[in-house]
Amino acid sequence: MKHKLRYGMIGGGPSGGVGSLHRAALRLNNEADLVAGAFSSDFEKTREMATELGLDPDRMYHSHEDMAEKESKRPDPIDFVIICTPNYLHYPAAKAFLEKGFNVSCEKPLSFTPEQACELKALAEKNNCLFCVTHTFTGHLVSREARALVRKGVLGTIRTVVVEYPQDWLLDALESETETSKTWRSRPELSGRGAAIGDIGSHMENWVNFVTGMKIDKVLAHLEAVGKGTMLDNNFQVIVKYQNGASGFFWGSQVAIGYDNAFHVKLLGDKGTLEFWQEDNNYLTLRLRGQPLQRLSRGSKYSQGESLKYVRTPAGHPEGLTEAFANIYKSFCEAIFDKLAGKPVDEDKYAYPTIDMGIEGVKFFNACVDSDEQGNVWVPLNK
Ligand SMILES: NC(=O)c1ccc[n+]([C@@H]2O[C@H](COP(=O)([O-])OP(=O)(O)OC[C@H]3O[C@@H](n4cnc5c(N)ncnc54)[C@H](O)[C@@H]3O)[C@@H](O)[C@H]2O)c1
Repeated sequence: MKHKLRYGMIGGGPSGGVGSLHRAALRLNNEADLVAGAFSSDFEKTREMATELGLDPDRMYHSHEDMAEKESKRPDPIDFVIICTPNYLHYPAAKAFLEKGFNVSCEKPLSFTPEQACELKALAEKNNCLFCVTHTFTGHLVSREARALVRKGVLGTIRTVVVEYPQDWLLDALESETETSKTWRSRPELSGRGAAIGDIGSHMENWVNFVTGMKIDKVLAHLEAVGKGTMLDNNFQVIVKYQNGASGFFWGSQVAIGYDNAFHVKLLGDKGTLEFWQEDNNYLTLRLRGQPLQRLSRGSKYSQGESLKYVRTPAGHPEGLTEAFANIYKSFCEAIFDKLAGKPVDEDKYAYPTIDMGIEGVKFFNACVDSDEQGNVWVPLNK
């Protein structure tokens, strides 16, 4: 019988947030059990969460330092940790666990600065740790289908990329907040020097990178704080130039009235165009030159092998965000099982977003902030 992995969590406390989605996804796969956690900066809330989740009281911790230290001394330590706290803790928490040799799954954006992100990569390599950055949309099966189609050359050479990601939830959050109860996303010391550009802009950069392999050479960005209550950007436009000569346009907003999570990508090649709508994430739209528009369904007979691997429900019965997280964890746990079995592990061969992708995301949002601060000029990602 295949044994199960053990994991711990930093963040994901009783107030909700994305932590409960990580846990639900891992339950869906049934390959790893939650055994340890520091779910909040307030130990009473950690205790409340740990009790609700049925954790051993010995394994509820006061902080990420406390957990990394004590787990490393146990005979049955965790196999990996999930970090799903506000952004400012990603780097120190990941560092604490990597230093003790633990595999890490971390929320995006990976860190505040590219230097911190590269330091985490060096540490992961030194201590032979696997590292996943949970860019969720890569877990949708149609994202993997899109990647397989691009690799097959169905679109030809990609020349133009258009990505939109409007949301409106931050409008209400900002309008209802007071100086003392500001959401962490509007505070630079907790969120980083970019807010929406790091939060949702990094997903936009990442999805295109994951599906096409294309990396951004330089950006020209305009960031703005629309409405009252925030010191940081909540609406942005970015022109991007890719290393292979393709160009793109990104618009993202967290104050666009009437939009939930309308992440929408168009990849335009010299043979065809592929469209992905996050809110209709069981389908892709393919437009080939001279042919009628095609609506491709997830998990169909004509799907590519790569995307068929993790089909959970028959086509037409929608899978969603929890399954996308679960697919990322299926890939990450596969790599951990292989590592434990002593097999060689090349992280690029598994379908989870790697630390290299996390680094690109951090370079992207920092270059955008630099571009905006310098008067909307072109800024290269690699200086
Ligand atoms: N991948 C995605 O699709 C996705 C979606 C939403 C959020 N996120 C990312 O997840 C992270 C968390 O976002 P959220 O919306 O869940 O935020 P949130 O504020 O709802 O939750 C943050 C959690 O971290 C806990 N926390 C805060 N300080 C802590 C500390 N010192 N030690 C331990 N726990 C602590 C809080 O108690 C809370 O439970 C962010 O980095 C965000 O960018 C990713």
